[in-house]
Amino acid sequence: MERLRSAQWYEGQDRNAYIHRAWMRRGVPGDAFTGRPQIAIANTASDLTPCNAHLNEVAASVRNGVYEAGGIPLDLPVVSLGETQVRPTAMLWRNMAAMATEEMLRANPVDGVVLLGGCDKTIPSLLMAAASVDLPAVVVPGGPMLNGTFRGGLLGCGTGVWQLSEEVRAGTLSQEQFTRSESAMIRSRGHCNTMGTASTMALVAEALGTVVPGTAGTPAPDSRLLEAAHHAGRLAVDMVGADRRPATFLTEASFRNAIVALAAIGGSTNAVVHLLAIAGRLGIDLSLDDFDRIGSRVPVLVDLQPAGRFLMEDFHRAGGLLAVLREVRDLLDPDALTVTGGPLAAYLDDAEIWDGEVIRTRDRPLVAEGGIAVLRGNLAPDGALVKPAAASPHLLRHRGRAVVFDSIEDFRARIDDPDLDVDADSVLVLRGCGPRGYPGMPEVANMPLPKKLLAQGVRDMVRVCDGRMSGTAYGTVVLHVAPEAAAGGPLALVRTGDFITLDVAARRIDVDVPDAELARRAPDKATVAGFAAPRRGWERLYVDHVRQADTGADLDFLVGSSGSEVSRESH
Ligand code: FES
Ligand code: MG
Repeated sequence: MERLRSAQWYEGQDRNAYIHRAWMRRGVPGDAFTGRPQIAIANTASDLTPCNAHLNEVAASVRNGVYEAGGIPLDLPVVSLGETQVRPTAMLWRNMAAMATEEMLRANPVDGVVLLGGCDKTIPSLLMAAASVDLPAVVVPGGPMLNGTFRGGLLGCGTGVWQLSEEVRAGTLSQEQFTRSESAMIRSRGHCNTMGTASTMALVAEALGTVVPGTAGTPAPDSRLLEAAHHAGRLAVDMVGADRRPATFLTEASFRNAIVALAAIGGSTNAVVHLLAIAGRLGIDLSLDDFDRIGSRVPVLVDLQPAGRFLMEDFHRAGGLLAVLREVRDLLDPDALTVTGGPLAAYLDDAEIWDGEVIRTRDRPLVAEGGIAVLRGNLAPDGALVKPAAASPHLLRHRGRAVVFDSIEDFRARIDDPDLDVDADSVLVLRGCGPRGYPGMPEVANMPLPKKLLAQGVRDMVRVCDGRMSGTAYGTVVLHVAPEAAAGGPLALVRTGDFITLDVAARRIDVDVPDAELARRAPDKATVAGFAAPRRGWERLYVDHVRQADTGADLDFLVGSSGSEVSRESH
């Protein structure tokens, strides 16, 4: 093994080496600082991130594995983001979490890191950090909750909330039953058990090669998760020995595989911004169009909510990600490597589908072409997304009158107004919800439908927004519109009554207003008032530096890598 990075702190007899060692002794073995890899366990456990609250137990298994392989495990609690708890949106701090983790890994005497995440933004922020500091790193996804059950059927996290709350709004479910469903939905430790963003990012992280193959998607209460964590601890020590850093195994091919996986699992649209941001940290030239080019024709093979029926516990039982990837093996790059040093493709040979209802074979897909489609047009010159598998087929080609809302508050104030001029063919437009405008790009694009239309039995409408939507949501939603209204995008110029045309097959989203007239229009005062203008703190930094959704919504000065070098001593 080459000289360890941590030796820059611990080696030698001078005063600084003395200081670095002495304060760390406190009962560790005498040889802890000589040639033993120092492995940080970047842990997003927090009681306020309920999906990750169990990660301290997972960390204990990682510690055992690190010790067993001759390394020294070091707990490193990092910024944690609980999707359901933090306001106004966890996405506002994804980049902050990534920056803080990157900086603390660089500043400290560590040689490698095990990344413990789960809830939506946690794995993306950890991977962005690891990519930028470029130290050997392996992800242990915290795993999904057990299946929820209610009224004798499956009840999925998130998806069930959207469904049941619409039932209450439509008057078909009582308030009391609605409340009773809470504990039926969230039955155990772990993250959301639908194919939402957390499940998607855990599986996509495995497809990228950053997770021990075959372990993402292991339910949080399953003993096999602890076994995987133990193994990851050992592996981190090996990775230091082999100098297996993200820059050495995360390539364009890894991202192509991740996009194929994202499509085949019918994953969350949020994965697009996260993958773009991670690639940006590595200097890999991934673009929005790559998602359409590589992913849009890939069949969806996983019958999980929100697009389908089952939940993650079923997915794991049915064979997990490797069983899915085996079906689309021809679409994968056989050379893309993983944390183990071996190619991902090498793990597919023994993969099997144990339940053909949950994981479909290629000849029986859930959706024939189900990946994410990238739209452009005079409403979204830099792109927008739609997830056809979560949309209504009859709305994929649609022309309708815009009903425009300038902010989420404006939307909430007016959507259920019986006098609102809206019908089933209208296109709901919500702006001011992009990275800058909100700020933080919240998950509001799947706007609830007007009560009066719900009562008429309308269950889906075309919706257009510069924000995101929850990975557990569904509907014909055009989202991540770039540039956002607050960044001067044409979305700011649309007026109620304009006709909007969506044509997913042609990959177009346009407002039927001549360019010359659009150019003459200026956003009115009410529109601009809806955009955030924070004066201090993180929000201020974020708004001044955040990039648009089509490039991953990272901060402009965080794109790329600084490596792990620290040039100066602390004393
Ligand atoms: Fe944490 Fe869904 S709220 S994963
Ligand atoms: Mg979410």
